[in-house]
Amino acid sequence: MPSTRTILWAATLLSALAFLGMTVDSLRKLGARTHEERLSAEVIEGKRLWQHYDCNDCHTILGIGGYYAPDVTKSYAIRGDAWLRQFLKEPAKMYPAGRQMPNFHLADEQVGSLVAYLEWVSEVDTNGWPPAPEGVARAESGGAKVFLAQHCNTCHSIQGSGGTLAPDLSHEGSRQTKEWILAQLNDPRSHKPDSIMPSFKQLPEAAKQELADYLAGLK
Ligand code: HEC
Ligand code: HEC
Repeated sequence: MPSTRTILWAATLLSALAFLGMTVDSLRKLGARTHEERLSAEVIEGKRLWQHYDCNDCHTILGIGGYYAPDVTKSYAIRGDAWLRQFLKEPAKMYPAGRQMPNFHLADEQVGSLVAYLEWVSEVDTNGWPPAPEGVARAESGGAKVFLAQHCNTCHSIQGSGGTLAPDLSHEGSRQTKEWILAQLNDPRSHKPDSIMPSFKQLPEAAKQELADYLAGLK
């Protein structure tokens, strides 16, 4: 029979080895998970600007930062290039009714670097973290609520409230039918091959119907 002391030592040694093995394994995968070969000078400049402007004071990125404003780890994937560029130049236009981000009066190259940095970060394999952020729903019900929850208003305006990157939808119902609007939601590129509007195909069918009914009713 081995003594208790021997068993304890063996268990400690085994745990230490397992821990060491996992650390080495994580370090070996780090390069691939962060695709470090794409760390261009522009991305690094973007990270420098991120620190220079203390964006972390309000935002969390890759698990570090404040909670005043949204986690931007996946913003590039959610918002896309065009939206982010316009937003960083003039934040107030994209969140007309919400809390406002200060305008840093960034030059075009600075916006380019920050967007390159956000793009690089959004592609880091974070095992799905953070989970899909909730929308900023501020309407009572139905299609109007889905419209805000899906952030359609960051690009489109309705009755004077919303972004300016995309057509005003205040009278969408007198321009298009419900069927046409559903096709636009499922595949914007079916109407315009170089559309920058994201596809909302993955939305539950009921939400798409509500949205299309709402917009088709705006005459
Ligand atoms: C004083 C706080 C504050 C600082 C500092 C700040 N932001 Fe923001 N940011 C906000 C607020 C507020 C919003 C809008 C969120 C809302 O209304 O829910 C926002 C939104 C954003 C978004 C859009 C997120 C999304 O997907 O909706 C991005 C990207 C962003 N900020 C980037 C930056 C960058 C880059 C910097 C540094 C140059 C920065 N922010 C500094 C407060 C801040
Ligand atoms: C990143 C910006 C962006 C977002 C977010 C966005 N759209 Fe669009 N949308 C566009 C642009 C740009 C167009 C103009 C046509 C094109 O490029 O596809 C458009 C066109 C449309 C049209 C057709 C307008 C017309 O009659 O020509 C509808 C309807 C529409 N969007 C609805 C929505 C809805 C509903 C949402 C949210 C679920 C949404 N959009 C989110 C950018 C956006």
